[in-house]
Amino acid sequence: MKKIVIFTGAGISEESGIKTFRASDGLWEEFNIARVATPQGWREDYKLVLGFYNKLRKKVIDASPNLAHIGLAQLEKNYDVTIITQNIDNFHERAGSTKVLHLHGEIMKSRSSLYPDLIYNIKGSKLKNGDKCEMGFQLRPHIVWFGEKVKNIDIANEIVSTADIFIIIGTSLNVYPAAGLIDFVPREIPKYLIDPNDSNICEVANLTIIKEKAIKGVAELSKSLTKDIVSSIVP
Ligand code: APR
Repeated sequence: MKKIVIFTGAGISEESGIKTFRASDGLWEEFNIARVATPQGWREDYKLVLGFYNKLRKKVIDASPNLAHIGLAQLEKNYDVTIITQNIDNFHERAGSTKVLHLHGEIMKSRSSLYPDLIYNIKGSKLKNGDKCEMGFQLRPHIVWFGEKVKNIDIANEIVSTADIFIIIGTSLNVYPAAGLIDFVPREIPKYLIDPNDSNICEVANLTIIKEKAIKGVAELSKSLTKDIVSSIVP
């Protein structure tokens, strides 16, 4: 089976009603990154941070994966699909994708504020002041904040280097090291970028830009990928 690696950002969840970060009405227009998405912010006012992620978690729980997430999960019928996502929501998993690697953490998980390897599933939408790990320390959101190490980046770079097809969906490619994934993709393989807006991707060989929102773009691309499969079976 051919290997498809798909790199997603906030844009794929926009049609599920979850705000992206850098649009004019984006999350970072509404909230101060330094206060809710950095270790300093946590140290200064951890209850504000808990509240920010509790609100976001409730939105994710109340929302659903959209047809773009579902379309990617369907690709697993004919391809070996791995999703590498910058998103902290669980829509890829809820849509049925079986191989999902999160680079920036997971909203439905918490971890010890002192022992980062102690990771827990959050039941319901709230992580509260006083919720502690087994060592007795306050639990924090299992999110990679600005300035923190992206633990999964080496595995992600390894995965993309073995792709037969590479697809980018809904990311402004603004944040490194995630945005640097493209540098590890084999030059000769077909690459696709789905985004309704202009992208700042530059000089990438074999790149097809599909200037559509995720749902329409994924439907279009899935159709052509499935046609390729059929024509490879029935010459
Ligand atoms: N379908 C596809 N793409 C869309 C849609 C849509 N319906 N709506 C918006 N987009 C595109 C935008 O044009 C933009 O290119 O999605 C991208 C969203 O960019 P950002 O808001 O910057 O989100 P993202 O690229 O995921 O941010 C990366 O930055 O703040 C950190 O950790 C956070 O993981 C996040 C990282």
